[in-house]
Amino acid sequence: MNVRIIGLGLALVVACGDDDASTAATTRAAEPTTAPTAAENPVATVDLDDPRTCATCHAAVVEEWERSMHAEAHQSRDPIYAALRTLRIERQGPQVAGQCGTCHHPLASSEPESPLAALGVSCRSCHGVAEVREGAGHAALVFADDRVMRGPHDLRADASPAHGTGPAAAHLTDGKTLCLACHREARNPQGVVTCNTGNELAEHADASATCTGCHMPTVETPSGAVSTRTSHRSHAFLGPHAAWEGSAADFLRSAVAMNARLDGDALVVSLENRSGHGFPSGYPGRLVVLQAIAKDPSGAEVWRAWREEASERPEVMLTQVYVDAEGQPVMAPFATAMARDSRLRPNETRELRFDVPPTTATVEVSLRFFLLPPKASQALGLAQSPLAAPRVIAEARATR
Ligand code: HEC
Ligand code: HEC
Ligand code: HEC
Ligand code: HEC
Ligand code: HEC
Repeated sequence: MNVRIIGLGLALVVACGDDDASTAATTRAAEPTTAPTAAENPVATVDLDDPRTCATCHAAVVEEWERSMHAEAHQSRDPIYAALRTLRIERQGPQVAGQCGTCHHPLASSEPESPLAALGVSCRSCHGVAEVREGAGHAALVFADDRVMRGPHDLRADASPAHGTGPAAAHLTDGKTLCLACHREARNPQGVVTCNTGNELAEHADASATCTGCHMPTVETPSGAVSTRTSHRSHAFLGPHAAWEGSAADFLRSAVAMNARLDGDALVVSLENRSGHGFPSGYPGRLVVLQAIAKDPSGAEVWRAWREEASERPEVMLTQVYVDAEGQPVMAPFATAMARDSRLRPNETRELRFDVPPTTATVEVSLRFFLLPPKASQALGLAQSPLAAPRVIAEARATR
């Protein structure tokens, strides 16, 4: 344990996180005996666990975070997470809940029903981190109990009246170390890798690509009333979910560039992965499906890539297929192996060729993104949820 003395005239103690992620909530150091009372020291009055208290001074950031999936990472806010968590507790036992909390609410990983857990991946989950170690989630994040909010800029120790400040933290400024603590990879109890976003970034052709470079773009407004700068980095952490909130489908559309052309009696569709990792990445249920419909000069349909089920033509599906010991497809948490990964690799451009009838005059091609494949939405009781309906993320037209 380190003891640091910094500018506020307080003796501040840095507590290390507990080694056992699944059983421990954030370890808190004993209050330093020399700490002034709240009345003498306004710094001690702000509840640094609660993002609402930051709004007076960092309003823009708080507003962005509020609509991010980090704010919705708890079972009370995310129906997909809640449903899978319940199913896993039923099938795999109650100890599962603490394992989820290590990343979904790291400040209270083993107390999933607490008010602190309900805040999900909150401000202090990232800005209270003194150091990132090996491991995942809570096990990797060393939370300090010194009331210093670590940030990307070199600040004097007394820059803020509400909390400590200090030098820029490398795990925030390098754009990925902090993110990888939760996003590198996740394994199911059988040891099968399910989410793999961070490892995929390592395969990206541009070695300087960072998570924050794409997911925290610069916004040309100050971060809040106290900011000394005219711009800040967005805390909306855009990802696919934004396309279901109505406003921001553009981010999801930016993941892939699609082109279509007719080459003799073949339709050639090219798909270029412009995201920083596999596409689709992250939660292994994501599914992208291509459909193509050919029409003759009179506008009558003469062909389509698939009729009832996309699985008639597996090459139109970008997804991961997980199987059990009998080789039957199952949801990733229950799998003993991944049988097929047809997603676009980082930087991959894939050409798909389809034979079309000679009478073809035009072909309309579309790409649809599912947060959950239809069978999984059924299994999770979410078939009627708006989240089960796909979004069109790319369209192209080929003409003779
Ligand atoms: C190692 C950290 C980690 C652990 C442990 C973890 N998750 Fe996650 N989970 C994530 C991350 C990160 C995402 C966001 C998608 C991605 O990049 O993988 C996510 C996303 C999800 C999603 C998709 C949610 C949505 O709205 O689409 C579900 C469902 C989910 N997790 C369930 C669980 C359950 C249930 C557990 C516990 C058994 C669990 N997770 C444990 C890190 C973790
Ligand atoms: C009473 C105002 C006030 C409140 C409340 C407040 N802060 Fe701050 N914070 C500041 C000031 C002032 C700075 C220094 C800003 C600067 O120099 O640009 C700062 C800096 C920061 C930084 C460092 C930013 C950087 O550019 O490196 C972080 C991170 C931060 N605050 C997080 C928080 C969080 C999280 C909360 C809520 C739990 C919070 N703050 C509440 C005033 C406040
Ligand atoms: C998932 C991690 C994460 C969460 C959650 C998070 N931040 Fe940040 N924050 C970052 C990172 C990373 C940066 C630095 C980005 C950069 O400049 O490269 C940052 C930057 C900042 C800055 C400096 C802004 C600027 O660009 O000048 C402030 C202030 C801040 N955060 C406050 C907050 C507050 C308040 C909350 C909660 C409402 C919050 N953050 C939640 C990761 C996070
Ligand atoms: C403490 C663990 C943790 C850290 C650190 C963390 N995340 Fe996350 N992140 C999560 C979890 C958990 C989810 C999934 C929440 C859900 O869907 O329920 C998530 C979701 C996301 C999403 C998905 C949004 C969507 O629409 O599905 C993006 C993008 C993201 N995080 C980016 C980042 C970036 C960039 C960083 C680093 C600055 C970061 N995260 C740091 C845990 C973390
Ligand atoms: C070149 C830009 C780029 C970079 C670099 C990048 N991403 Fe993404 N990311 C995207 C785009 C675009 C999407 C939407 C497509 C998708 O969901 O796969 C996305 C999706 C995601 C998702 C949602 C996955 C899900 O569960 O559906 C998460 C989580 C995520 N990114 C985290 C990260 C993390 C962590 C890093 C760094 C290790 C990173 N991204 C690097 C562009 C990028």
